[in-house]
Amino acid sequence: MSRWSDQRKHDHYYREAKKRGFRARSSFKLIQLHKRYGIFKHGTTVIDLGASPGGWSQIAAQYADRVIAVDIHPMEPLERVVFIQGDITERETIGKLRSHVTYADVVISDASPNISGHYTMDQARSVWLCEHALAIAETFLREGGTFVCKIFEGEDYPAFLQKVKEQFRMVKPHAPKASRKQSSEIYIVAKGFRKGGKKEHVRSA
Ligand SMILES: C[S@@+](CC[C@H](N)C(=O)[O-])C[C@H]1O[C@@H](n2cnc3c(N)ncnc32)[C@H](O)[C@@H]1O
Repeated sequence: MSRWSDQRKHDHYYREAKKRGFRARSSFKLIQLHKRYGIFKHGTTVIDLGASPGGWSQIAAQYADRVIAVDIHPMEPLERVVFIQGDITERETIGKLRSHVTYADVVISDASPNISGHYTMDQARSVWLCEHALAIAETFLREGGTFVCKIFEGEDYPAFLQKVKEQFRMVKPHAPKASRKQSSEIYIVAKGFRKGGKKEHVRSA
């Protein structure tokens, strides 16, 4: 057995995920974020970006009427979840999303780049995915909607956080307990979407 699979077997959240039938241990990160910030409401529409294998979609589908999940990789079907295979950084994917949804109440993104081990590069790629997740949130969120996004902390993080703050009334960066201790990932939870951004940031013509 490799050291990695040995470590995984001893991981509390990995074992709990198996027990409860969750597709990924990351389900617990979303459960913890929801407990703290009240992300989901019943009867809503959720867009889940970077969704495969489906651990977050499983949690979102417990509350939402509709979940539209997007990933560059395939995902096994889930009840009440429509899956779109596509790259969130490509316009074509926005077009595919439009054919399924006009407005969303919540946009969540757990999208991660393939880890190269070169931290600066991985962090820049993570921010790049977040920029696109935010653009999708701006396109589809209703006024007052919620955005949750995973980002790797680093040089470009403060500027991205500031950008989110300009669009939402409440923004909190949070590291859920289920994140691995050695991980530099952080989740930005943003509530109260202002369509058109903060008034003072809109320049007059
Ligand atoms: C940590 S996993 C997500 C786990 C998922 N939230 C769950 O609970 O099962 C990150 C995902 O981001 C996806 N991803 C990375 N880059 C992407 C892109 N450009 N467009 C769409 N998905 C992407 C990967 O394919 C991967 O499935």
